[in-house]
Amino acid sequence: MQTLFRGKHLITLQEWTREEIDTILDTSRHLKLMFANNQPHRWLQDKTAFMMFFEQSTRTRNSLEAGITQLGGHAHDLTPDKMQLSHGESAKDTAMVLSRFGHGIAIRNCFYGIGNKYLREVAQWASIPVINLQDDLYHPLQALADLMTMQEKFGNLKGLNVTISWAYATSHAKPLSVPLSQILLFPRYGMNVTVAAPKEFPLLPELVETARQNAQTGDGKLNFVDNMDDGFRGAHVVIPKNWGGFAYTEDKGEMAANLARYKSWICDEQRMKLADPKVIYMHALPADRGNEVTDPVIDGPHSVVYDEAENRLHTVKGVMALTMGGRP
Ligand code: CP
Repeated sequence: MQTLFRGKHLITLQEWTREEIDTILDTSRHLKLMFANNQPHRWLQDKTAFMMFFEQSTRTRNSLEAGITQLGGHAHDLTPDKMQLSHGESAKDTAMVLSRFGHGIAIRNCFYGIGNKYLREVAQWASIPVINLQDDLYHPLQALADLMTMQEKFGNLKGLNVTISWAYATSHAKPLSVPLSQILLFPRYGMNVTVAAPKEFPLLPELVETARQNAQTGDGKLNFVDNMDDGFRGAHVVIPKNWGGFAYTEDKGEMAANLARYKSWICDEQRMKLADPKVIYMHALPADRGNEVTDPVIDGPHSVVYDEAENRLHTVKGVMALTMGGRP
């Protein structure tokens, strides 16, 4: 078991070994039981995490802030308008200074073509761990919570049919980072992953290629279909969710016109009947109800969305406990 985590950045799980991911999940399960039993677990006593949110968040912000409080530490809830980066302060200077004050820097920056580069630059200069709260390419904390939830529901994940489907939404063009993190991670656990998406909403080819290699080494599978019904057939897990067409066009008008053609890509009860009878419905949330999914599905017996959201708390606590604390 790998146990040396202190100071390790979490930008993408692709840079963490399977052994390291398993240790994080074991730690998260341990912390979940302690939380359930009202057992104090102040493992990060007097430690400080700086959260920098360039975008809105409900789950990520509150799971981290509640999580570090439960671990005995404190989080600063920062947005660019509260910081000198809004006047152009460099990533280097921000990283160097925050490293002198605290124990972890956590950042969400989903701007396409910018977010991951910004996190990498902060990580280059920070002497404390940088935790990715979602960027344009990766959302490792979501993928970890998804993995933990699937393990709770199914136990061994080898051979599980998991469908990650594009879905229509009007709320906003969601980042690619959730489906990309899922296709990179799930095949490493031997899952048979199917991506269903219209051709105008592809995932990034270079990361798809990496995911294919992960499938080979992890004894999993990765397939692509362009029809939502085909994706749902026989699935044990369905994860229908919108993502923007950034990898096809950066022209917002063209993306909007493409989106309008696929209003029928909704997860409804008819489609759920195509899947395995014991299928579970997952969604990172926020869901665009009535567009991505109907109420009877997300509120129905197959839905595990609140268990999945709860695991955001336990997994971020596992990550912080080991990277910001842990043994030197
Ligand atoms: N799933 C997720 O990251 O939710 P938030 O955007 O609310 O943080």
